[in-house]
Amino acid sequence: MPAASAALLLYLLSVAAAAAAAMDPAERETLLLVMEAVSSDRDWRSVGPDPCGSPWPGLECKPVPGAGNVVSAAKLHVTRLDFGAAPNPACRDTAAFPHLAFALPHLQSLFFVDCFKNPAATTPFTLPPSGNLSSSRLQQLSVRSNPSLSGTLPPQLASIRSLQVLTVSQNALIRGEVPQGIGELKNLVHLDLSYNSLTGPIPSRIGELRSLVGLDLSYNSFSGSIPGQLGDLAMLQKLDLSSNNLTGGVPATITGLTSLTFLALSNNGLSGRLPAGLSDLRDLQYLIMENNPMGVPLPSELGDIARLQELRLANSGYSGSIPETLGRLASLTTLSLENNNLTGRIPAGLSRLKRMYHLNLSKNGLDGVVPFDGAFLRRLGRNLDLSGNPGLCVDDRAVVQVDVGVGLCRRGGADASSSAAASPRAPLTRYAPHRLTGGRWSAALLIRPVAVALCCCCCLLL
Ligand SMILES: *[C@@H]1O[C@H](CO)[C@@H](O)[C@H](O)[C@H]1NC(C)=O
Ligand SMILES: *[C@@H]1O[C@H](CO)[C@@H](O)[C@H](O)[C@H]1NC(C)=O
Ligand SMILES: *[C@@H]1O[C@H](CO)[C@@H](O)[C@H](O)[C@H]1NC(C)=O
Ligand SMILES: *[C@@H]1O[C@H](CO)[C@@H](O)[C@H](O)[C@H]1NC(C)=O
Repeated sequence: MPAASAALLLYLLSVAAAAAAAMDPAERETLLLVMEAVSSDRDWRSVGPDPCGSPWPGLECKPVPGAGNVVSAAKLHVTRLDFGAAPNPACRDTAAFPHLAFALPHLQSLFFVDCFKNPAATTPFTLPPSGNLSSSRLQQLSVRSNPSLSGTLPPQLASIRSLQVLTVSQNALIRGEVPQGIGELKNLVHLDLSYNSLTGPIPSRIGELRSLVGLDLSYNSFSGSIPGQLGDLAMLQKLDLSSNNLTGGVPATITGLTSLTFLALSNNGLSGRLPAGLSDLRDLQYLIMENNPMGVPLPSELGDIARLQELRLANSGYSGSIPETLGRLASLTTLSLENNNLTGRIPAGLSRLKRMYHLNLSKNGLDGVVPFDGAFLRRLGRNLDLSGNPGLCVDDRAVVQVDVGVGLCRRGGADASSSAAASPRAPLTRYAPHRLTGGRWSAALLIRPVAVALCCCCCLLL
């Protein structure tokens, strides 16, 4: 054992020595200047002679194939720097956005997370001149959760052509328009500009970023319409434009996003008909579009988006009936249509959706008999909300409890008391809603086994 340990130690020492010898002195000096300028943690020069050979928080080095001279194959270069949240170096209150970091010739990833947060002063978000960035090999730049970082998105971003992942998110003081030059970043796979204070239109040139898989512009103040050019992003899997100030219709070109799995457009000023061809979105699992003044009927084509798991269209002025076709969405787990102007019956097909787990149809003008059986009601429990539909009633005599949100249907007119008469919609001829409380379905819906058995017998006899 001691011999083995000694051998291991010798090996580690030799690796460290080789690395120390390998690190480029100019690169090492640039790294030290960046560390000293940004970090509040330590006197980096005294930590050790060899940053790449010993573990430094926030620093990653790698041999870069094809870089430098061929003799020293093990030559290590700074490839990743991480500032901000522990275990990475915390940032000084006076740290400026470090331009020198972009002079590290082999840097691939640069992170500033919870870095710039001096409550007493802001730090401008600036970049070196374009000329200094054009030879950059940076693939990932992440500037996230920096409450004191201020200014606009620097136009020089467009010069970092090697970028694949650009995240500028949760920096409340980053404002202004997105530079059109963003269209130059043809290698971008992920663009996340969410939770800033960006304004102006969504640049149509984003449609040129044909490798884009994720686009998140949510929680800003973008205005104008959704550019039709976004429909050119054939690789896009996630599109989130929610919580902006977007107006106009959903562009027809959106049906060209055939790789899309997640589409969120909630909390905007979007209106008008959803485009035909929604069923082309054959991988779409999440369609989240609440709080828009749509004011149109729900298209039956929604039922042809075969993989849909969540359909959330609440509070958007939809009128007409709930399309029967929704009963085809076998993967549906969540359907939120509350607070619209929907009328007519609840499609019976919904009761056959075996994955359904959250159904909110409250505050509409739905009427008729609720087509759900005891098993369905028990499965959804408190995740079912049918309240605020005065014309609805339940006809399942097996399901009786004090606290139900929809009244029990009563045969004939005798029990159709004043509450039914007060309903704005005419009750069914055979049934009249008998409203008990304004609450929701109780979690403790009880089945009376005897009643069930009797029902079954009756059915068999008939
Ligand atoms: C930009 O490039 C010039 C010329 O190579 C150089 O002198 C200068 O230090 C660079 N600036 C930065 C911030 O890297
Ligand atoms: C959204 O747009 C409206 C009308 O153009 C404007 O009055 C409002 O201030 C905007 N809201 C935000 C958050 O930008
Ligand atoms: C429903 O329609 C009425 C009148 O047609 C309108 O006043 C009301 O705002 C609409 N409700 C919703 C939630 O859009
Ligand atoms: C249904 O939506 C209403 C808003 O209209 C909300 O208050 C209620 O909590 C929701 N119910 C469920 C079960 O999600």
